[in-house]
Amino acid sequence: MTAVRRPLVVGNWKMHKGVAETAAFLEGLLAAGPPSGVEVIVCPPFTSLPHAAMLLTGSSLGLGAQNVHWEDHGAFTGEIAAPMLRELGVGWVIVGHSERRALFGETDESALRRAACAQAHGLEVIFCIGETLAEREAGATFAVLERQTAGLGALDPGHLVVAYEPVWAIGTGRNATTEQAQEAHYELRRRLAGIFGAGPAEQMRILYGGSLKPSNSGELLAQPDVDGGLIGGASLDVDSFCAIMRDAASRAAGVGS
Ligand code: PGA
Repeated sequence: MTAVRRPLVVGNWKMHKGVAETAAFLEGLLAAGPPSGVEVIVCPPFTSLPHAAMLLTGSSLGLGAQNVHWEDHGAFTGEIAAPMLRELGVGWVIVGHSERRALFGETDESALRRAACAQAHGLEVIFCIGETLAEREAGATFAVLERQTAGLGALDPGHLVVAYEPVWAIGTGRNATTEQAQEAHYELRRRLAGIFGAGPAEQMRILYGGSLKPSNSGELLAQPDVDGGLIGGASLDVDSFCAIMRDAASRAAGVGS
């Protein structure tokens, strides 16, 4: 059952931490040592990736980017291609984050194109979805999640993680309740089973994101279908990120035997 899914903790630094701050953070994190049984990924800004890749060489920590373009190269000013990320040793990429959707014109379709290109180049994809407050209040949460996952069948489920991030919880300090998170994750897994089949869906990790922090990570990460977290604000501090990792490790210990 849940024992097959290794907990995954991902730090999404957004537009924080240049090279010097990245180095200081990663040195602290490596010294603290991530707990066993948990997979940990950090996603710094593009400009910090080369230095981060160097510092993380030989460690168990994974490295991710926060976006990727859907073409391998070309006249796309300001964009970064999957082969460029691979060249740096990046293994993961976040796609379709709600900030990309709300502020930079990302759509379900463009997010899927990015994800497909990333997978084609061997990157693991963290595909973000989630409803706005207005959509939740209108009772449209599941309809939105259905729309946002409609094209996922084009992707390889073996290299795909879905991140449920209710938009109203991101950066607001207002997290989903354990019931809201588990209900959405359960529904998402049901939906993924419809797309990929029950076996692959049971193996897929679904992360919760949105004001995840040490004060709520224990209970949120204990939910049966919450396989880890995508963490913004609380991932910027080594101590709070480590505290969340420890809660994920408790989950691993609790369900892994
Ligand atoms: P937050 O961000 O933890 O700061 O709410 C989460 C995210 O946007 O991935």
